[in-house]
Parts: sequence; C-alpha cells; structure tokens
Amino acid sequence: MGKQFHEAKKEWQEKLTRTQERFPERKDSFVNSSDLNIDPLYVPHQESIEEEYMEKLGFPGQYPYTRGIQPGMYRSRFWTMRQYAGFGSAKETNKRFRYLLDQGQTGLSVAFDLPTQIGYDSDDPMAEGEVGKVGVAIDSLEDMETLLNGIPLDQVSTSMTINAPASVLLCMYIAVAEKQGVPKEKITGTIQNDILKEYIARGTYIYPPKPSMRLITNIFEYCAKEVPKFNTISISGYHIREAGSTAVQEVAFTLANGIAYVNAAIESGLGVDQFAPRLAFFFNAHNNFFEEAAKFRAARRIWAKIMKEQFGAKNEKSLRLRFHTQTGGSTLTAQQPDNNIVRVALQALSAVLGGTQSLHTNSRDEALALPTEESARIALRTQQIIAHESGVADTVDPLAGSYYVEQLTDQIEKEVLTYLDRIEEMGGAVQAVEDGYMQREIHQAAYEAQKRIESKEDIIVGLNEFQLEEEVQADLLKVDEQLEKDQVQQVQNVREQRHDSTVKEKLKALEEAAKDEKSNLMPFILDAVKAYATVGEICNVLREEFGEYSGV
Ligand code: 3HC
Repeated sequence: MGKQFHEAKKEWQEKLTRTQERFPERKDSFVNSSDLNIDPLYVPHQESIEEEYMEKLGFPGQYPYTRGIQPGMYRSRFWTMRQYAGFGSAKETNKRFRYLLDQGQTGLSVAFDLPTQIGYDSDDPMAEGEVGKVGVAIDSLEDMETLLNGIPLDQVSTSMTINAPASVLLCMYIAVAEKQGVPKEKITGTIQNDILKEYIARGTYIYPPKPSMRLITNIFEYCAKEVPKFNTISISGYHIREAGSTAVQEVAFTLANGIAYVNAAIESGLGVDQFAPRLAFFFNAHNNFFEEAAKFRAARRIWAKIMKEQFGAKNEKSLRLRFHTQTGGSTLTAQQPDNNIVRVALQALSAVLGGTQSLHTNSRDEALALPTEESARIALRTQQIIAHESGVADTVDPLAGSYYVEQLTDQIEKEVLTYLDRIEEMGGAVQAVEDGYMQREIHQAAYEAQKRIESKEDIIVGLNEFQLEEEVQADLLKVDEQLEKDQVQQVQNVREQRHDSTVKEKLKALEEAAKDEKSNLMPFILDAVKAYATVGEICNVLREEFGEYSGV
C-alpha cells in the first residue's frame, strides 16, 4: 500500500505542475510571519497511516477528492468571489454588477424577481407588487441586453438563479452573447435549473415533475453539444438548509436530487460522461464551523463514489463535486446587524476550508432588506480578507488530519449514506418529494432547532442573549415603487415594437415541439427569445401543454 501512496503523491505533483501552466502559483514563495515555508500540501509520513490516508482522503485533485478537486486549490487561483445581486430594473442591476466587478468580485450572479422566476411578465396581474422586489425584472431579450450591457461575456462567468424558466433565461444569455460576438461555445457560467429543491423548499416551480425533468435534461443535452463550457445545473442544498434542515439532511437530500437528475439524463439517452462534467452543486455555510467544513469534505467523497460505483463514470471530471457556497441567510439577525459581519466571516471561512469553488457572502442588513451598496462591499471585502490576509488559502485542505475533522467527516458521510439508502428504498428523490418525505424531515428539524433557540439551549447573540435596549435603525435599501410602472410600460413597448407575426410563428413552433416528448425545446425557445417573445409568453405556451403543478 505504501507504494500506492508514493505513486499517488508523484501523480499529484505532476498534475499540480500541469495545472500551474494555466494557473501559476499566486506568489513566488509562501511563508508565514515566522518566515517558515508553507508547503502546498501536508500528508502523513508513516507507512501504516498512509494506507488509511489513501483509502479515505487521497491527494487533492484525485479520487475520492476529499481534500479538494484541484491539485493546488487556492495556491494558484482563489475561489470565485461571486456575489448574488439583482433588484429593480435591468439598468439598476447592471450598475450594481459593474460596481461589484470594479470592487474586485470575479464572477456574476443574477437574482431575478419572483415574476420572472415563476414565468410571469411584469404586466401580468400575478406580478403585481413583486416586480423588481427580490431580484431584477427580466421580461424580454431587451432587458437581458440592458442587464449585461458593457460586461464582456467571453471574460466573465455568470450564474443565473432561475429554475422553472431556466431554459428561457439561458437562451436570452446565449442571444446577448451572440450580439456581443461571443459564440455560445465560449460562454461560461451556471444555470441553477434545479426544480426538485423548488418542490422541497423554495417554491418557484411552474410545471409538474415529469415535464420539468424533461426541460432540465433538454438543457443538459443542448449544452453538451452547443454550450460546452456552461454548467447546466446547480444542484442546491442551500434552500433546503434555509428551510431548516440539518447539515446531514442538506447533503443527503441534495445528493439524492443529484442522483435523480443523473438517472433522468441517462433515461433520456445521454451517456453519463456526456453531461456529468457540467453538473455543479450549491451548498449553505451555517454557524457550526467544523460541522460545515467537514460537511463539504464528506459531500465530495460521497459524490465521487456514487458517480464511479453507481453510474460507472469514467471521466474524472464526472467524479468531482464542484460547488458554490452562500453563507446562511437564515442565520442573519435583524438585531444588531453589524454582528452579522462576524457570522458571515466565520461561515465564509468554513466554506474556504471546505474547498468551495465559488462563494457568496451575505450582507449584514439582509435580514432587513436587500443589501445597500456599502453592505455588499463589506461582504465582498470579507472574502478578500480571508483570501489575502488569513493565510488559509496558502496550503491545500489545512484541516486534514485533525482528529475531530476527520472523524466528523466520517460521521457525516455515514449519516448521509443512511438517508440515501432510505430514499432509494422509497423509489428515489422524485417519489420521496411527491410523498413529502424530505419536507417532513426538514420541518421536524426546523421545529427542533427553533425549540433550542427558545429554550436558550442555543444562544444567538443579540437575539436571545446579549440584547440591546435600543436598536439603532440601519439605513436600508428601498426599491422605488415607480419601478413597477416603468417596467410594465417597458414590456408593453417591446410588444408594440417587435414583429408580432414572427413571435406568433416561433411560439406556435414551440407549442408543436412541446407536444412531442422526444424533441429538445431549447432551439425553439432560442428562436422565440430572439424574436423578443417574453418570458411570460413562452412559459404560458408550456403551461398550456404541461399544466401547472399544485404542489404536494
Ligand atoms: N487549479 C486548476 N484549475 C482551476 C483551479 C485551480 N486551483 N481553480 C479553478 N480552475 C479552473 C476550473 O477547472 C475551471 O476550468 P474549466 O471550466 O475548464 O473546468 C475554471 O478554472 C473556473 O473555475 P471553477 O469552475 O472552479 O469556478 P467557477 O466560479 O467558474 O464555477 C461552480 C464554480 C460551482 C462550478 C459554478 O457552478 C458556479 O459558479 N456556481 C455558482 C452558483 C451560484 O452563484 N448560485 C447562486 C444562487 S443564489 C440562490 O439561489 C440563493 C437565493 O435563492 C437566496
């Protein structure tokens, strides 16, 4: 076994050197304040321990990826600093995007308003009062052009938090890139496109499970051929955790959903290595520091084994669990909002020590409102301080070898596998969701957690202990009510100015294609989008064909 360790170590060194051609190390030398050299990686030295090391941890960038998916991790490239942003009009949000990019953020992340997320135009009666509130209002390609104005889509990767209408917004993004002269083969980013967690925890679904899974696998198939650098799904545990799940349930239900997507893609005729390299994940980072860091390490190891042993994936890129993290929104307190800066810093640190590829840090005022520019800047600075000043990015997976972290990683893995077996016995995640199983487990966990806070078994500083008599009112961002009226006018102008006959023709073609389960709807949606058909018009064609889901 010792030989295997040394072979693996040699392979790791060679792979590290190769990746450094594209991403050289950030600094010529890594030393601490005592002028002690910091190695890129620390591993055990005794033969016996090496055996266990190889079985449970392995080298970074090697199966089962417990220590990270890249051989050098942040020695060469930090995680992407990707702040979720969006409110009001496309123009307002474009301004915030450019501000954050100027302040050093390295990836975009679009928050859409609820009407867009549920496939209604801003002038739909269902949209009233919600236009531009929790995210940016996008009705047509014109809004998307405004949203991305001046942002080079061949250089910036963009995440879009959109699920039921994911196909429509992805097509708008492709169309804007083409207008910039950037071919779809070159664009990078991620579409959330994860409907199962919407049924479980978030609620922005439109269609029943079956047609929803068809739209999702249509995106997998289309992007595998046409948009190869775009991550086709961000299988999310974030919202499951925000709904009150435990860390174990967060990983278990997310990976169970991942298994369901892989099965659906294979049943649609795709080979696992054709689409799996572009699956991505999205997790939460809550307050219990070591539990969170161990959770990420366990998730990587479990997913690698599932993809290799259950699905027979051969491409190493199919085995690597790549994830984005957002610090826990539900941990933010409305009381003493500046305390949230400390919470977010610790949560962000757990994500970095857990090997995240991309990170959003919440702003201190988000328990009260959408973040002000100053709060969003402090949130970004938090990441930059961790990256540049703390030293934690200077060696790979520094928590490895800790008795606590390794045993906690093993324990979380074991608990997650128990859940996965149970869900498998129920017939998989889609069935478990339709039976309400995951929802019941989450509600029970949320109830227990709330009881612990009310009994002060769990102390939340400023909330149930160390309160202030008087709370100073923070200055909060307000979305101008006039915005809704302007946006309504905007979408009506688009409808008047476009070639209506072309729109009708493209929507008709989509309607026909939707009737044939075998056809991939992406090309039809792209045509409709390019004719300036709106999100609502396209989603309504599919509502006609698929119906709407009334929930469990
Ligand atoms: N060594 C070698 N190569 C490296 C490297 C290293 N250290 N670090 C990065 N790279 C390479 C990668 O391999 C990749 O190259 P490839 O595309 O050719 O493989 C490239 O550099 C970019 O790196 P990543 O892919 O790791 O980083 P990205 O930031 O581009 O992607 C991701 C990260 C997790 C894979 C992607 O899915 C992502 O960005 N997700 C973000 C999702 C997101 O922001 N979601 C927000 C949702 S908000 C929400 O829902 C909450 C709301 O409802 C409240």
